[in-house]
Amino acid sequence: MPTFKIAIDGPAGAGKSTIAKAASKKIGFVYIDTGAMFRAVGLAALRRNIDINGDKETVEAMLGEIAIDIAHGENGQEIFLNGENVSTEIRMPEVSVAASDISKIPSVRKKLLDLQRSIAEKTDVIMDGRDIGTVVLPDAQLKIFLTASVEERAMRRYKELIEKGVECDFDEVKKDMEYRDKNDSEREIAPLKPADDGVIVDTTGNTLEESVEIILNLINERRGK
Ligand code: DC
Repeated sequence: MPTFKIAIDGPAGAGKSTIAKAASKKIGFVYIDTGAMFRAVGLAALRRNIDINGDKETVEAMLGEIAIDIAHGENGQEIFLNGENVSTEIRMPEVSVAASDISKIPSVRKKLLDLQRSIAEKTDVIMDGRDIGTVVLPDAQLKIFLTASVEERAMRRYKELIEKGVECDFDEVKKDMEYRDKNDSEREIAPLKPADDGVIVDTTGNTLEESVEIILNLINERRGK
């Protein structure tokens, strides 16, 4: 039997991961955070001091030397770079920017696309990212495009970082977010955009609970529950 696939795409800070995590728990699907995979590749490049935007050949050579794996534990998805658990480190602001930059390189996308598709073939998933409904899982039974105003997305991300004890400045967080919005939407390959058959959900002004409720209603409707 084919698996049931739910794609959630949208810009940074729209609440994709929190909402997808809560919804997947409720319906017993596996939650896959594809941004974490790009972050792990970005982190690998940062650690090697590679100039991501200027030296694509070195990035490509690096791809043959790194293994990205995911596992599901108590805390949800965990991500490993060459066997090392980098789930916390990949959340640093500089890794966000590196992930966005490195995601423009076709060979990086290809490597991760294969990994993403192979997981969704084996099990029912809620997968979040930027191009899940448009490129990775075009046959997903439900495609959601989650968005919110840039001001609100930056504030959510700022609070998240402060809660984790990461020192940061709101204007910097907002600037990074605007940079990534532009980078992710305007790139040539697999840009961030709603799928033609996607449902757009704007979460500006919603509480998390309200957004989860909207998403669960959409899921139940599509699954005929
Ligand atoms: O979802 P995130 O903020 O953790 O993603 C980090 C970066 O990775 C994002 O700015 C663009 C890239 N990305 C992508 O290009 N395609 C995806 N499916 C997921 C993330």
